[in-house]
Amino acid sequence: MVRSISLLACKTCIFILLLCFYLPFSFARDNITLNHSISDGETIISIGQIFELGFFTPGNGSNNDPRRYVGIWYKSDPKTIVWVANRDSPLNKKNGVCGIGEDGNLAIFDEHKNSVWKANVSVPPKGMVKLLDSGNLQILSNSLSVIWESFKHPTDTFLPGMKMDGNLVLKSWESNDNPAEGEFKFQLEGNQYTIRRERLIIYWQSRVSGDFMSDDILPMVSSLLSNSDRSNKTYKFGHNETTISSFSKKYRRLVMYFNGKVQYLTRLSESAPWDLTWKEPMNRCDEFKACGNSERCSNSENSNGVAKILNFKPLKVNKVGKPDEKFQVSSENDCKEECLKDCYCQAYSNETSQVRGVTSVTRNTTCWIWSNDLNNIQFEDTNGGREIHLRVQPNFSPEPKQTKQDGGPNNINNQFKQWPLAFAVTVASVLALAFAVFYIFTRKAKVKKQEAGKRVDRLRRAK
Ligand SMILES: *[C@@H]1O[C@H](CO)[C@@H](O)[C@H](O)[C@H]1NC(C)=O
Ligand SMILES: *[C@@H]1O[C@H](CO)[C@@H](O)[C@H](O)[C@H]1NC(C)=O
Ligand SMILES: *[C@@H]1O[C@H](CO)[C@@H](O)[C@H](O)[C@H]1NC(C)=O
Ligand SMILES: *[C@@H]1O[C@H](CO)[C@@H](O)[C@H](O)[C@H]1NC(C)=O
Ligand SMILES: *[C@@H]1O[C@H](CO)[C@@H](O)[C@H](O)[C@H]1NC(C)=O
Ligand SMILES: *[C@@H]1O[C@H](CO)[C@@H](O)[C@H](O)[C@H]1NC(C)=O
Ligand SMILES: *[C@@H]1O[C@H](CO)[C@@H](O)[C@H](O)[C@H]1NC(C)=O
Ligand SMILES: *[C@@H]1O[C@H](CO)[C@@H](O)[C@H](O)[C@H]1NC(C)=O
Repeated sequence: MVRSISLLACKTCIFILLLCFYLPFSFARDNITLNHSISDGETIISIGQIFELGFFTPGNGSNNDPRRYVGIWYKSDPKTIVWVANRDSPLNKKNGVCGIGEDGNLAIFDEHKNSVWKANVSVPPKGMVKLLDSGNLQILSNSLSVIWESFKHPTDTFLPGMKMDGNLVLKSWESNDNPAEGEFKFQLEGNQYTIRRERLIIYWQSRVSGDFMSDDILPMVSSLLSNSDRSNKTYKFGHNETTISSFSKKYRRLVMYFNGKVQYLTRLSESAPWDLTWKEPMNRCDEFKACGNSERCSNSENSNGVAKILNFKPLKVNKVGKPDEKFQVSSENDCKEECLKDCYCQAYSNETSQVRGVTSVTRNTTCWIWSNDLNNIQFEDTNGGREIHLRVQPNFSPEPKQTKQDGGPNNINNQFKQWPLAFAVTVASVLALAFAVFYIFTRKAKVKKQEAGKRVDRLRRAK
C-alpha cells in the first residue's frame, strides 16, 4: 500500500517534472492570430527555437529606461536584435500589446489601444502572423500565402534568406541603444552596394560590378546579399577554404551599424560569440568620424591622418560635369556644411530661388555636390555661367613622404631586439627590401590619387 502510494507519488513527480521541461516547448507559440495577441512580457518563438519576438528595451536595460519596442532576436542571444517594428515610436510603459487590431492590421497598441505602429496590411480573419526559423515574420492569408513579411521591411540587419534587390534598404540605428532610424543606409544601386549618409551623399561604394565578385566585397557577403547561397563555390575564409553552406543560416548576419560601417558577422555555434568577418569601409580615411566636420582625411598627410580643408574658392564656370548629388537645403551655408562633411566633396554650388506663397515668400535653395570628378569643368571669365565653390587646401605643399605608420623598420627592430644580431640583421634586410617594394607600389598608387588633386591645382592656376 505504502509502496504503491510512493510509486504513485513518484510517477506524479516524474510527470510534473516532464511537464515542466515540456511546457515551454509545447506552449511556445510561433504565431499571433485574431484571438491571440501578445502582451509585454510574452513572446512568440519560431518552431525550431531559433528566433523570438517580443517586447524589449535596448541598451543595458537600466530600470529607469521606459522605452519598449517590439523586436525579433536570436533566442540564444537575446541581446542581438535583428528587427524592430516600432523603431521610431517606442511605448513608454510595459503594458503594450502586439496583435491584430479591429481593422485587421497587425499593430502595436499602447494602454489606450492606440496603435503606435502597424504593418499596413489587413490580416484576413483566418489568417495569421507567424515567426519563422529564418527570423522572418510573415503575415499569411487564409490560404497561407504571404501577404507581408519583415524580410521585405528590414531595419538594420540582413539575414540569410533576404534578397538585396533595388527595393531593400538597411537603415542603421541612431545609436548603440536607439533603434530609431539613423544616418546610414545600405542598399544596392545599379550593381553597386552603397552606404549613404543622411541625405544623398555617398559615403562608401563598393567597386562591385557584373556579378558582384570583386576584391572589396567578400564573395561570401555578396552571395549572401544576392541570396545565391546555394552555389557550391568554395571561398577562402581566414586560412581555410570553406563553402557557404558549411555556415548555418543561424550563424550569419550583415548589419548596417550606426557608426557607418556595414559588418558581416559569423559565429561557429549557437553559443559562440559573433566574429567580425568583414566590414566596409575599412580604410580609416573612409571613416565617417575620421573626416568629420571641416576636415578632409588623407592616409598620408600628417600624424593623425587628417588634413583640414576649410577653404572654398568661388569660381564662375560655364560648364561642369554632372554633380554627384542634388538636394534641397535651407541655406547656402547648409550646402557648404554638407560638402565639408563629405570626405570626397570637391565642390558645391547653390541656387537660391524665391517661392511666392499666398502670404509669404519662402526661399528655396538647391544644393549640388561634386564628390568624384571635376573633369568636365570649363571656365569662362565672362558673365553668365554658374558659380561653384571649389574646396581648396590653404597651404598646399606636397611634401616627400618619410616612414610608414605601422610595420616600419623601427618597430620591427625594437621587437626583435633580443634576437642574435646576425639573424636580426638578416630579418631586417629582408624586411627592408619588402618595405622598399611596398613603398614603391604605394607611391605608384599615390601618384594616381594625386592626379585628382593636380586637377584642382590646374583649376586654380587657370583662374
Ligand atoms: C499557433 O501556435 C500554436 C502553438 O504552437 C499552435 O497550437 C497553433 O496551431 C498555431 N496556430 C496556427 C493557426 O498555426
Ligand atoms: C476566435 O474568437 C471568435 C470569437 O470569440 C471565435 O468565433 C473563433 O472561432 C475564434 N477563432 C479561433 C481560430 O479560435
Ligand atoms: C553597456 O555597458 C557597457 C559596459 O558597462 C558599456 O561599455 C556600453 O557602452 C553600454 N552600452 C550602452 C548602450 O549603454
Ligand atoms: C504604415 O503607414 C504609415 C502611414 O503611411 C507609415 O508612416 C508607416 O511607416 C507604415 N508602416 C509600415 C510598417 O510600413
Ligand atoms: C558540391 O560539391 C560537392 C563536392 O565537390 C559535390 O559532391 C556536390 O555534388 C556539389 N553540389 C552541387 C549542388 O553542385
Ligand atoms: C581552420 O582549420 C583549422 C585546422 O584545420 C581549424 O582548427 C579551424 O577551426 C578552422 N577555422 C575555421 C574558421 O573554420
Ligand atoms: C547662393 O546662396 C547665396 C547666399 O544665400 C546667394 O547670395 C546666391 O545668390 C546663391 N546662388 C545662386 C546661384 O542662387
Ligand atoms: C525648390 O526648387 C526645386 C528645383 O527648382 C524644385 O524641384 C522644388 O520643388 C522646389 N521646392 C519648393 C518647396 O518649392
